[in-house]
Amino acid sequence: MSRRVEPIEGTLDLDVDLPGSKSLTNRALVVAGLADGVSVLHNLGLSDDTRAMIGALEAFGVKVELDGTTVTVHGTGGALRRPDQPIDANMSGTTARFVAPMLLCSGGGSLTAHPQMLGRPMGPLLDAMRSLGGLVEGDALPIEVGSVGTIGDQVTIPADVSSQFISGLMLVAPALPNGLELTLDGTVVSRPYIEMTRSVMQRFGATVEWSGPNVLRVAARGYVGTEYTVEPDASTASYPLAAAAIVGGRVRVRGLGSDSAQGDVGFADVLRRMGADVRVGPDHIEVRGSGTLQAIDVDLGPMSDTAPTFAALAARADGTSSVTGIGFIRTTKESDRLAASVTELNRLGVQATIHDDGFTVVGGPHHHAEVETYEDHRMAMSMALLGLVDTPVTVLDPGCVAKTFPGYFDMLDQLRATARSEPLVLAIDGPAGSGKSTVAAMVADRLRLPHLDTGAMYRSVALAVLRSGVGIDNDAAVTTVAENAVIHVGSVVTIDGEDVTEDIRTPEVTSSVSPVAAIAGVRRVLAARQRDWAIDRGAAVVEGRDIGSAVFPGATMKIYLTASVEERARRRAAQTGATDLEDMKRRIAQRDEIDSNREHDPLTIADDAEVIDSTGVEIDDVVDTIVTRWMALTDAANGIGGTP
Ligand code: DC
Repeated sequence: MSRRVEPIEGTLDLDVDLPGSKSLTNRALVVAGLADGVSVLHNLGLSDDTRAMIGALEAFGVKVELDGTTVTVHGTGGALRRPDQPIDANMSGTTARFVAPMLLCSGGGSLTAHPQMLGRPMGPLLDAMRSLGGLVEGDALPIEVGSVGTIGDQVTIPADVSSQFISGLMLVAPALPNGLELTLDGTVVSRPYIEMTRSVMQRFGATVEWSGPNVLRVAARGYVGTEYTVEPDASTASYPLAAAAIVGGRVRVRGLGSDSAQGDVGFADVLRRMGADVRVGPDHIEVRGSGTLQAIDVDLGPMSDTAPTFAALAARADGTSSVTGIGFIRTTKESDRLAASVTELNRLGVQATIHDDGFTVVGGPHHHAEVETYEDHRMAMSMALLGLVDTPVTVLDPGCVAKTFPGYFDMLDQLRATARSEPLVLAIDGPAGSGKSTVAAMVADRLRLPHLDTGAMYRSVALAVLRSGVGIDNDAAVTTVAENAVIHVGSVVTIDGEDVTEDIRTPEVTSSVSPVAAIAGVRRVLAARQRDWAIDRGAAVVEGRDIGSAVFPGATMKIYLTASVEERARRRAAQTGATDLEDMKRRIAQRDEIDSNREHDPLTIADDAEVIDSTGVEIDDVVDTIVTRWMALTDAANGIGGTP
């Protein structure tokens, strides 16, 4: 079986609901099984893993009623029946590692798993169980817990192998006679998962405190049955959010936000660092991407499940990205995700190399290939993302996504079905005084297209910054001003409803605007708004400095309008009534200098732009040239375009 994933034309625009977190679901199931009374769990992350956990609970004598994605669990108050058959954790790492310590509460029993799981490390957890009084046979699955003596209340566990061992011990701790003090030995990997375990335990009434930097104290208070809604899975959210970043457009994941206990919500920051516009609310995460990303170096240790997603993103980024901090996932996950990510990127023609604790990826185009998925849902979901842009990707054994997200390919189809067409954009870029604004307005008028002066947007932000009293060199504060200002640019320019058409043209604003426009956060915010504006209108004339090179790299037509500094100074002087021509020349040259040399999206001539030098040329002739060219281009392309 294989599945060919085709590129999406246009920009994404979708709100998605995702299955509940498998990690939270399996924790909540254990806790509900050990709780006193009935629990109802909603939005379960139904997968082979949760089914394995439900099977385990039933084997322990817990009554479980599943109805769609809601489950009712009749907790036993911590007293578990000794299972009469070996419990099968199947392919589920969390089930294996959470169920093993539960055998301490059932007076013993045996636990096995799918052959692929049998070699996965369990040793440190089994040693911990032995030190707590369990007679454990085996160092990896299958295991047999013969009998359980007096259960101890202190245990030391290596913290640098898998946090699932720690979580497993934490989860049973409230059901042990004296609770448990866990000393975590060594550097703690995946600390967010420990916090996630803690947050679920607390929701069911347990007391779990850090009594030292590496010591957790769990009281023997037991759990209380409760109603609980499982959050969408944050690792799974990485796929639709990454899709928005690489395809371009907007995707919102509902029900997951800043209050989440899942460490993988941190992936939103990774996307932000790569240049996507990311908005995190209490109950949603939204990414607005432009389809262009910057390479970054990142430690994915705290969110290692997102490493394959990052591999796919890095393949689309400009430059070389590297990931560190994830050496431990080579042996603890469904596949060796370092080797798998690198091998499959190479197969697609993307340069990638593995190193001790991560990998390096050189962004660049991929070619079509059939990618192996190693029975690993995350490999399948990640590599499929690359098929959404430019060149298809064929995913082998696509059914492996059922592990956590059976509807994954349906979601990709939905992203495609709801994508909006790319707007037709006539981009006009050029330096100050090149005649852009006049030409753009006249061209828009002739073509009966809406016109956006993006310089007026940057000027508006500069004005809002001056008024706010925020220091112009305080990037974060200036970005916040840009985010919060409601700017409307048309024949009248307004900020938060106030007419500022005149105010944005004062010398004070003019001298502050270039430094403000050099701030990456400001550019990110305004570029996203410019894209939204054009997508809403379908076709438009957009003028600025980086329209063809950065905001609409796929613009239908790109003009770079320029003129000699002398000519531009003369035009500006005529506009503003200034008399000192030399001074004007100096100012213009200075602004060119800042705009062309800033780090982010500088004024530059896009490769496929047509350069028009308007020195000594009548404006009407420039307009004629552009209008004629646009009509020919759009008529030839698809018959769309205004009437001159
Ligand atoms: O076109 P203008 O002079 O009104 O533009 C004001 C400033 O805004 C200019 O100095 C550079 C900046 N700008 C930009 O950085 N990117 C754009 N797309 C438009 C303007």
